[in-house]
Formats: sequence, structure tokens, C-alpha cells
Amino acid sequence: MPPGADPFRSAEPYYARYRPRYGDRPIDHLVDRFALDESSRALDLGCGAGQIAVPLAARVGRVVGMDPSEAMLDGAREQSRQAGVENVEWVQGSDADLRGALGDDLETFDVTTVGRAFHWMDRGPTLDGIRELTRPGGGVAIFDDTEWLTSGERAWQDEVYGLADEYLDDLPERTGPRTEPYENPYDEMLADRGFADVEVATFERTREWSVDEVVGYVFSLSCCSPATFGDEKADFEAELRERLDALGGPFGQDDEVTVISGCV
Ligand SMILES: C[S@@+](CC[C@H](N)C(=O)[O-])C[C@H]1O[C@@H](n2cnc3c(N)ncnc32)[C@H](O)[C@@H]1O
Repeated sequence: MPPGADPFRSAEPYYARYRPRYGDRPIDHLVDRFALDESSRALDLGCGAGQIAVPLAARVGRVVGMDPSEAMLDGAREQSRQAGVENVEWVQGSDADLRGALGDDLETFDVTTVGRAFHWMDRGPTLDGIRELTRPGGGVAIFDDTEWLTSGERAWQDEVYGLADEYLDDLPERTGPRTEPYENPYDEMLADRGFADVEVATFERTREWSVDEVVGYVFSLSCCSPATFGDEKADFEAELRERLDALGGPFGQDDEVTVISGCV
């Protein structure tokens, strides 16, 4: 992929449809933790297709959803239209220039959420920028869930990974379950950057995936987007469907949603 290209451009149609939302419990947790209500303002940084911003909009007064990818923002607009949500403003921007992207809209936020996107950011300076934009008593919450292609433990997941690996040169290593999110534990990072009362909340759930959902999920990942397969996308998809049909579904997954939060 050329430098500066959007890694989610070709993934977006699959992302909006097949990348799971986080469920009610993590959103309820966020609302309780920061006493959010109809007077609250939230920023969802790296909002993607609105997996946090859209459900959160029903619980607060206003949400700004920010993402550098125009394709993802188009998906988010469509998701909010379908949900009948009108209190989200979708803004193109990234952690690199939070203030510039917000323009004149520099009223403080009660909470900033970052879902499955913190690893794309320059994390220390991003936390400093978020802290400056947060009202006292508000905070930040980093959402993640189990990315099963690289960190799941089920045999069917090995099979899907193995096939993708035959087609792709740059597939990230299959590591098995992560004990820490990425190279630094995010809770320690929040505390180092001056957030108080840092808390890690986990929400376990099991899911069952159909063949279509497995295929859609794989193409929703930036490392396995349709663009990464190029001309071989159709061959990969056909072979994947054949192998999944042979295994027989439904395909169970153990999922864990993590919300790491800290206060200003
Ligand atoms: C895996 S998606 C997560 C989308 C959504 N937040 C969710 O929870 O499903 C990662 C998103 O981060 C965005 N992103 C990548 N680099 C970013 C950056 N430097 N600042 C803000 N967002 C970024 C991508 O465009 C993409 O929409």
C-alpha cells in the first residue's frame, strides 16, 4: 500500500456490516463512570463506521466522531442515518491535529473514546491532547475487543489464518491470546500521562459467526482488506468459503471487550 493511502478504504463496506459493536454493557459502564447524560459531549476519535459513536449518541447530548478515512466516515454517516441518530457530527481528522480538526469547536468534552484505534496513534501526545480537551471530572476510555484472526484460539480460526497467510506476505503474526494490549499496557500509559483513577473493565461474551460473517470480518481488517488480496480476492474468498463449509458452522468465538479509562 503506498504511503499515505487509506488502509480502510476497501475494508469499509465490510467494516460497517461485519465488525461487531461492543454491546450494551461497555457503553453502560462508560455512562456510569463519567455520569454522562443529555447535557454531555463526547469525542469518538478514530470513530470508523461509528461502532461507539452511534450507540453513545443515544446516551449523551452530542458526539463528535473523528476519523481520517473519508470512506469510514461515509460508512458512519450511513450507520447514523439508519439508526435515526442526529446528534453526531462527523469530522475528518486524526490524532495528529486534534485541535485543527475541531476548528472553532473547542468546547471541552466530558469523555473521549478510542475504539480499536489507539495503536494507530502517537499515543503519548494523543493522551496529552485529549486531556487538554476534557473538562475536570471527565476522562478518556480506550475500547478494544478480541481480534480473533491473530489472537483467537479456536481451530477454525487457525484454518482461516493459515489460508490468509498463503495469500498475503504481510499478515501480522498469529500470537494467540494477548496478555497486554499491544506493546505497552494502556492503563500504565494513561497513568503516566496524568490520568487519575485508571480502571480496566472487561466484559466477556461468546459469539457465533456464520460463514458470511467470518468472510466479512476477514475483509474488514486493514491487514486483510480486499485491496491487500488484489486480483486474488475472489480466489481467496471462494477457497475460504469452501473450507468453512467443509468445517461446518456455526463458528464459536470467545470475545472479551476491554474498556481502559482514566479521569481528568
Ligand atoms: C479498526 S478501526 C476502529 C473503528 C471504530 N472506532 C471501532 O471501534 O470499531 C480503526 C480506525 O482508526 C482510524 N485511524 C487510523 N489512524 C488514525 C489516527 N492517526 N487518528 C485517528 N484515527 C485513526 C482508521 O481510519 C479506522 O477508521
